[in-house]
Amino acid sequence: MQNILQVNYEDTWCYDIIFHESYDTLGDEIKKLNLSNRKVCIVSDSNTMRYQQEVREQIQGFVGSVETFVFPAGEENKTLDTVRRLYEHLILKKFDRNDILFALGGGVVGDLVGYTAATYLRGIRFIQLPTTLLSMVDSSIGGKTGVDFDAYKNMVGAFHQPKCVYMNLSTLKTLPPEQFASGMGEVLKYGYIQDAAYYHWLIEHHDKIMSHDYETMKEMVYHSCYCKKMVVERDPLEKGERALLNFGHTLGHAIEKKMNFQLFHGQCVAIGMIAAAYMSAKRGYITEHELEEAISVINSFSLKVGVDTIDSKEVVEATKNDKKMEAGKIKFILLQQIGKAIIKQDVTDEEMLAAVEYIKKLA
Ligand SMILES: NC(=O)c1ccc[n+]([C@@H]2O[C@H](COP(=O)([O-])OP(=O)(O)OC[C@H]3O[C@@H](n4cnc5c(N)ncnc54)[C@H](O)[C@@H]3O)[C@@H](O)[C@H]2O)c1
Ligand SMILES: [Zn+2]
Repeated sequence: MQNILQVNYEDTWCYDIIFHESYDTLGDEIKKLNLSNRKVCIVSDSNTMRYQQEVREQIQGFVGSVETFVFPAGEENKTLDTVRRLYEHLILKKFDRNDILFALGGGVVGDLVGYTAATYLRGIRFIQLPTTLLSMVDSSIGGKTGVDFDAYKNMVGAFHQPKCVYMNLSTLKTLPPEQFASGMGEVLKYGYIQDAAYYHWLIEHHDKIMSHDYETMKEMVYHSCYCKKMVVERDPLEKGERALLNFGHTLGHAIEKKMNFQLFHGQCVAIGMIAAAYMSAKRGYITEHELEEAISVINSFSLKVGVDTIDSKEVVEATKNDKKMEAGKIKFILLQQIGKAIIKQDVTDEEMLAAVEYIKKLA
């Protein structure tokens, strides 16, 4: 297995994803970006600021100057208010069009920094230094950036590709177990929607994954990034196929919102995937046995498959604000079979209600 994957789209953009066990080679990557007289602002949250010093040490000598910005951890801070404070900081420190932001943290930091980079002075460069499993396998790749608005997830955003994604896999050692599980939600998603062989590989390597065996985790992160890269390259602006990555997300986002963000994103996606798998089984696309297997597999990776403190009607209602609507119709992702997802626009409220009732019983 290699240590680099390249993501590129025609001549519009191209960047490397680097997989490494430390920040030791970060300087080499930064050198390639010609930042010797540029300002860098390393942005992290209150938990990932622990890695700022290491990053700073590696890049000094390859950049003009280094500033830092820290905001409190948590989805509740992925807001325009935090973006405003970051703009303020950049203006005070006189950041210009040629300077660059580093997003050091999970998906919250990555989405927020990416959005700030997309909009500050009509767009400056940024790089992703993901530190959660979820951000390594999903959010740091593909250029979707944004923030939440009131209770609406990712309501304000932009497509803006990073210049480089550098993953120091050893940062996963400090990640709380429930956050690791949350990332597994998105990892399993790739298996369900596009790669049955990968799904079975994940099942076979369950124990090594859960004990954080380094080589197994690296292979898993690499393959997940490969899955995402392939989709993003074919459909960067989500005009078609990229929507398949939203498997589990329509009901997942609605649950996330109705639970007031007490459950993490990947945990809600896992529950949403079971709801969607149930709907797929009811339509006869997958078998009851495959549904049951999905429940036990998701459970085995320390993810919940149900939640009972929600009102089914309210959850279905919340899907109406989903961005995946087109001409008033929801674009729902179902499984045609394990390893192959399809976009459906004929899903009814009754089907969704039955699925939510089902996951309530599984809680
Ligand atoms: N842009 C995209 O394509 C995309 C895709 C999927 C998810 N997302 C977004 O990503 C976000 C979720 O990302 P996430 O799960 O990484 O959440 P997160 O960024 O909130 O990180 C989870 C928690 O772990 C902490 N943390 C991060 N790295 C750590 C480390 N190495 N050690 C100890 N603690 C650490 C964080 O401070 C936070 O408390 C959501 O907002 C979701 O909407 C975006
Ligand atoms: Zn997601």
